[in-house]
Amino acid sequence: MVSAVAVWYNGAIAGEGARALSQGSDRLFHVLDPRQFDRPLLDDLCALTTRLRQHAKSRLGARSLQTLLPHKRAMLYFTQPSTRTFLSFDNACHLLGVRTSEIRDPSTSSEVKGESFEDSIRTFSSYVDVIIMRTREAGMAAQSAALMDRIERSVPIINAGSGKDQHPTQALLDIYTLERSFEARGGLDGKTIGLMGDLRRGRTARSLAYLMKNYRGVRMVFIAPDDFAMEGDIKEHLREHGIPFEEVADPASVIGELDAVYVTRLQTEHDVGEESKGFEHARFRIGSEQLPALKPDAVIMHPLPRGPELEPAVDGDPRAMYWRQERNGMWMRVALLVKIFGVEGELPD
Ligand code: NCD
Repeated sequence: MVSAVAVWYNGAIAGEGARALSQGSDRLFHVLDPRQFDRPLLDDLCALTTRLRQHAKSRLGARSLQTLLPHKRAMLYFTQPSTRTFLSFDNACHLLGVRTSEIRDPSTSSEVKGESFEDSIRTFSSYVDVIIMRTREAGMAAQSAALMDRIERSVPIINAGSGKDQHPTQALLDIYTLERSFEARGGLDGKTIGLMGDLRRGRTARSLAYLMKNYRGVRMVFIAPDDFAMEGDIKEHLREHGIPFEEVADPASVIGELDAVYVTRLQTEHDVGEESKGFEHARFRIGSEQLPALKPDAVIMHPLPRGPELEPAVDGDPRAMYWRQERNGMWMRVALLVKIFGVEGELPD
């Protein structure tokens, strides 16, 4: 069974069951967009993530993980700043025995000699078995995947953040964190999830919102000033899939109803003028003074890095889940690589 149903190029379905997604089996191939994930695949990835992290706890288990993919090499092509996503992918590779190469500064690659983006990607694919990429512009991972489908040596492309558009692997680790946080309460189904901050330009919030169609009875609350409201494409998607959402500009009016509040940073790097100047940090934040209004069993999440919207004093609150969320990221990325290379059957019980 092919659990993910569509191939996404620039947000459009290119074809069902195409080589890009599954290569003829239930294997995941490119990871480009959250819309390619359906519930069975998400459940599968979450269970695999937990299984893998259990394995890694013992020396024997960790050694068995190392033997899964020692014949594979990965390229980390991160031309936009990254700490967590880069380190978690790098370490995820190493946990599986995958060797890594990296380009983080485009001025050190032949692109400065005028080599085209496509030729650079094609060159990486000559040496490695998977390309993990983060780019300043949207659509580059999808463009790379489309290129892979035209050439002889096609390798999977993983989108590790595409401009202000999407960040699918972050959304997967966020789902895993939500599911685990609500484990004793029936999981994410039926929960009210608030996304707060610069939702217009925040790719993590955009990607997470896309995944919500896979969960039953979820209600979304978008908490942002009007100028930073969630874009129409995401809202349209939620409407199409019957996911109820509201938009509020006053956090205090809803904070007590949320099962999870996902706080995000002001994305100043996408400013073209002075649009970030008017953002009211004092309003769209979680600090010690907001904590009493939150449900006693709510979870506080943040993709990190944080700015003034999340006070460090919150770290000590039992509802603060963001450091765990960060750690979950590496294990979800281990699971993704295991799935992409189709080796989960080789895991000892
Ligand atoms: C996010 C990103 O890069 O989009 N960080 C991350 O990957 N954990 C969030 C952000 O930078 O605001």
